[in-house]
Amino acid sequence: MWPSLFPEEASTIAPRVDALYFFLVAVSCFFVVLIAGMLLLFAIKYRRRHEHDVGASIHGGMVLEVTWTLIPLGIALIMFVWGAKVYFDEYTPPPGNSVIVYGLAKQWMWKFPPMDGQREINELHVPVNQRVKLIMTSQDVIHSFFVPDFRVKMDVLPGRYRTMWFEATRTGTFHLFCAEYCGTGHSRMVGQIVVMSPSDYQAWVAGGVSHNTLASAGQTLFTNLACASCHSAASGSRGPVLNGIYEQRVKLQGGQSVIADDAYLRESIMNPAAKVAEGYQPIMPTYQGLVDDEQLLELIEYIKTLKPAAASAPSVTTSEPEGQGTSQPITEHGKSSSAVSSPSAAPTAQR
Ligand code: CUA
Repeated sequence: MWPSLFPEEASTIAPRVDALYFFLVAVSCFFVVLIAGMLLLFAIKYRRRHEHDVGASIHGGMVLEVTWTLIPLGIALIMFVWGAKVYFDEYTPPPGNSVIVYGLAKQWMWKFPPMDGQREINELHVPVNQRVKLIMTSQDVIHSFFVPDFRVKMDVLPGRYRTMWFEATRTGTFHLFCAEYCGTGHSRMVGQIVVMSPSDYQAWVAGGVSHNTLASAGQTLFTNLACASCHSAASGSRGPVLNGIYEQRVKLQGGQSVIADDAYLRESIMNPAAKVAEGYQPIMPTYQGLVDDEQLLELIEYIKTLKPAAASAPSVTTSEPEGQGTSQPITEHGKSSSAVSSPSAAPTAQR
C-alpha cells in the first residue's frame, strides 16, 4: 500500500481544518494562475514590436486600484474569521462530559498516568465518539503533542498545564508524534492513539489495576504529606477546606478571585504564596522538589474527588453565585493568624 498523501480525517475537527486548508490552497492557486497568466498575456500582447516604439503614458485608475484593494481585503478577512473560529473551537474544550486524560511528556516518551485504566507509555487508549480532554505537562523541556489524523497539535510546556481536546470519529490506531525538537531522542518520541469502540473501551478499562487509580495514589500522598493537618474542616484550621473546591471560584487576598482549576491547584502546591485564599495567611511551604509532576497529578485528582461535606453548611454548591465559592466557613476568617508561628518545614518533617 502506498502511504496516502493526506492523513486520515479521524476526528470531529479534522474535516473543518481540512476545509479551511483547501480554501487557502484554492485561493492561492487562483491568484497564482491569474497573476502568472496576466503576466504572460501582457508580455505577449504589449511586447515591443519596433525599435522606435515608446510606451503609452498611464496615470493610474482609481476604480481599478480600489477594486484590487477591497477584494483581497475581503478574502483575507474571510480567512481570518474562519481560521479564528476553527482555532478557538479546537483549543477550547467544550463544556460537558469528557473523558479526562493526563499526559506527561519527558525526554523521550509520552506517559499517560492512569485515571481509571492502565498506566500507559507511548500509547493512549480512548473511546470513539466521545470527547477526550487532555491535560498535559512536561517534566523537562518543551515537547509537542501531535496527532496528524486528528489535526491536533499542542506544545507541552514544563511547569504548566496545557489543555486540549479531541473527539475521534473512527476506531483504529493513529500515530502520535512529538513535533518539537527536544533533544537526541526526539525522533523516537512517537506513540499511538488507540481508538476503541465503547464496549471494547469499557473492557479495557475494567482490565486495569483499579485499586491503583490516580486519586487513590493521591490520597496516600495527601496522608503521607500530612496535608490534612492544615486543610481540614476543623474550626481555626490553617488552610482552606479543599472539599468541593474544584472548579469553584475562590476569593483571594486583595479582592480578586480565581477558578480552582488544575492550573490553580498546581500553582497552589508548587508556589503557595502566589494566590492566597482570602482569610488565610501565606504560611504554606512550597512542595517544589517534594512532589514530582506525576505526584502532582495524583494530588489534584484526589482533591477533585473530595465532595463538599454535607455537615459544613457554608461549603460550596455548584449553583452558588460568583464570589461565594470559597468553601470555607466564615468563622475561620482571620483566625489563621494565630497559626503563623507553626514551622513551615512541617510537611518535610512528616514525610
Ligand atoms: Cu519531545 Cu521532540
